[in-house]
Amino acid sequence: MSHNSVIQEIKDRLDVVTVVGRYVPLKKSGASYKGLCPFHSEKTPSFHVFPQTGTWKCFGCGAGGDIFTFVEKRENLPFADVLRMLAKEAGVQLAEPRPEVRDALQRLRELHAQATSWFQSQLLASQEGQRAREYLERRQISQETIENFQLGYARDGWEHLIAWLKGKGFSLEEIIKAGLAIQRDAGGAYDRFRNRLIIPIRDAQGRVIAFGGRILGEGEPKYLNSPQTPIFDKSQVIFALDMAKRAIRAKDQVVLVEGYMDVISAHQHGFRNVVAAMGTSITPQQIKILSRYSRNFVFALDADAAGARATWRGVQMVQETLSARGVLTPTSRGFRTEKRMMADVGVAIMPEGMDPDDVLRQDPEQWRALIENAVPVVDYTLRQTARRLDLTTVAGKSQFVQEILPTLSKIGDPIQRRHYIGKVAGLVRARESDVEEALRQFERNQRRQRPPRKRAPVQPPPDVAPAPPSGPDEPPPEAPLSSDEEPPLWTDEPLSETPPVGPDPTSPPVSRTPPPVIGPEEHVLGLILLHHESLLPWLDDELAQLEIEPLYVEDFNHFINRTIFELLDDFRFESPDGDFASHMADQDSHIYEHFLFLWDYARHFEAEKPKHIQFHHLQRDVVTNLIRLRLDRNRETQRQLEISMAETSDSDELRSLSERFQKLLIERRNLEIAMVHYSQAARWVSNHRTVYATK
Ligand code: UTP
Ligand code: MN
Repeated sequence: MSHNSVIQEIKDRLDVVTVVGRYVPLKKSGASYKGLCPFHSEKTPSFHVFPQTGTWKCFGCGAGGDIFTFVEKRENLPFADVLRMLAKEAGVQLAEPRPEVRDALQRLRELHAQATSWFQSQLLASQEGQRAREYLERRQISQETIENFQLGYARDGWEHLIAWLKGKGFSLEEIIKAGLAIQRDAGGAYDRFRNRLIIPIRDAQGRVIAFGGRILGEGEPKYLNSPQTPIFDKSQVIFALDMAKRAIRAKDQVVLVEGYMDVISAHQHGFRNVVAAMGTSITPQQIKILSRYSRNFVFALDADAAGARATWRGVQMVQETLSARGVLTPTSRGFRTEKRMMADVGVAIMPEGMDPDDVLRQDPEQWRALIENAVPVVDYTLRQTARRLDLTTVAGKSQFVQEILPTLSKIGDPIQRRHYIGKVAGLVRARESDVEEALRQFERNQRRQRPPRKRAPVQPPPDVAPAPPSGPDEPPPEAPLSSDEEPPLWTDEPLSETPPVGPDPTSPPVSRTPPPVIGPEEHVLGLILLHHESLLPWLDDELAQLEIEPLYVEDFNHFINRTIFELLDDFRFESPDGDFASHMADQDSHIYEHFLFLWDYARHFEAEKPKHIQFHHLQRDVVTNLIRLRLDRNRETQRQLEISMAETSDSDELRSLSERFQKLLIERRNLEIAMVHYSQAARWVSNHRTVYATK
C-alpha cells in the first residue's frame, strides 16, 4: 500500500474523538467536540475536535491537525513512531524498513548492550575495578546513580572487550564497525577503551548507542568517545535525554550543562531536567529535538571565558534555530511576517572557578537559586557586550549599539522591546528615539538583503549597507484588481503511466509502489525536491516581495510531505553541497518511497511538459499553487470556526473565535492581493524582459 493510502486507511479506521479523547476530556457540542487545549493553558475550552473531517483545532493557540499531528505533539514522538503506533492500533500493515538495514542497526545495538553489561560487571565485581570504584567514591557518586547511568569500567589490556563480544557471537569486523575496537595496520585490532571509567551514551529511547570513557584521575585525553557509527551521530544525540525528558516536559524547562559529570551530578541531586550536548557546541538538530519537550532553555555556564564563549555560541544557536521562521503579526496594514524570539533563553553563570558539578556538591540549594535566577539572554548579551567595549568613548558607544541591534530586532514583544531599547539608551547615554531610529534602519537594511533561508552560523551580522535591489525599483504599474491568474500547470488529471526512466546515474532507483494521488501540494513539493538549489532561494525572495509568509512546513497538509520538507530544510542547512537523494535513501523506507514517488512524478512532469513551458513558468506555477494551498487552508479553518461560533454560548469564547476569524479574513485578503499582484508582476516582467535584453 502506498504511504498516503496507508495514512488515509488509518484515519478511516480510527476515530479522532476516541484518539484525542484519551488525552483530553471532550464534551459534545453540536457537530463537534470541545475541551481544554492540552497545548496551552486555558480556562475556557477552545480546543475543538471535528469528527466529520477527522481533524482538531485549538482556536486559542492555533495548533491543529489530525490524529497523527495530535499524537506527535502530545507524545513528542517522531512521525515514524506515531505512524507505527497508530497503524498497529488500526490493524493496518506497514511496509517494513529494508530488512538488511534494520538488521544491521539492530545488531549494532545488541552489541552495545552486551558491551555495556561487560563494562558494568567489570566495575562492580572485578579486582581491577577497585580503582574505578574508588574514583567514583571520591567524586561522591552514589550506587543508585551508577546503576541509573549504567556506569562501567574498561579494564586495562588490549583485548578484553573484543574477547567478550566474540564470545557473544559478534565478529571482529562488527566490533570495529561499532567503534569499540581499533584496527591495527599489521592486522588484528585492540580495544578502544582501556583503563577508563565508562559512561554509556543512550538515545532518547534509552538504548546504548555509544560510550564515553573518562581517564581515572589526571591525563590526556580526559575523555575518549565512540566515533560516529550508523547508530551514533553525535550532532543528534543529547546526553541523558532519555532520563530527563519527562522532567523537562513537566518543568517546561531544559537546563544545558557542558559535561557528562555535570549531568550525572545534577540527576543525583534530584535536578532531572538537565542534559548535555555531546562535547561541542549545541547543534541545531539538538535544539530542535529539545524544543519538542520545552522551549525554555537555561544554559549553565562556567564563569571562565572559554565556557562563556562556547555557551554563547549555543545561546545564539537556540535563538537562530527557533526564531528562524517568521511569525505572522497583524499590523494596521494587514499581516506582516516578523521574526520573533520564540524560545526563552536564560543564562545561569556559575561562581568563579566552579563548574555545575562543584556547585551541586557544595550546595544544591545554590544551584537551584542560580537556575531560578537565570538571566534572560538579552540582558546577558547587553552585559557581555558592554564588558568588551569602552562605553565612555563615542566609538565604543556606537560599536555597542551596532552590535546589539541584531538582538533587539529579534524581540517580538513590544513591551520587552521598549524595555530593552530604554536599557541600551541608558547604557550609552543616548535618547531612546535615537536607538529606535538605529533599529528601524537596521531592520530596513535587513529586509532588503536577501534573507538567507536559514541562518548562517552565528555571529551577529555586521551592519552592512543595503544591497542594491535586484530588480527595477518601481513596483509594477497599478492595474484594476482583476483576478486574471494563469491556469495552473498542474491539473487534476492522473498521470498516464509510470514514466519511462532512462539510465541516470545521479537519480535514485524508481519506486515500484503504485502512485498515490498527486495533489497541488505533491506537485509543489515534487518540483521543489527536483530543483531545490535553484528554486528555494528564488522562492524566498519572491514570497518576501509579495509580502506573504515564507515557505514553511505547515504549507503541507500531509504529514509525509511535511516530513520530507523538513528533512530537506535541515539538509540544506547542514550539508549545502550534499546530495539530498542519497540522504533520503538513509531514511525509513516509507519516507524514501514517498520521496521517490514525488521525485519520479516531478521528473516525468518535466519530461512531458510542452516545449514552450520554461523554468520561469514552473517557478511561477509553484507560487500560484502555494497561494492556492494557503487559500484552501484558510477557507477550511474559516469553515471550522463558523461551526464553533454558531455553537458556542460563551461570550468570551465567541469573542476570541471572532478575533481569529477576523485575522483569517485579513490573511485571506492578503493572499488574494498577492495572487493578483503576482500575475500582474509576472506579466509585467515578461513584457519588459525583451526591453532589458536589447539594452
Ligand atoms: P569537561 O572537562 O567540563 O568534563 O568537558 P566534565 O564532564 O565536567 O568532566 P570532569 O568533571 O572533569 O570529570 C565537558 C565535556 O566535553 C567533552 C565531554 O563530553 C565532557 O563531558 N570532552 C571533554 C571530551 O569529549 N573529551 C575531552 O577530552 C574533554
Ligand atoms: Mn567537571
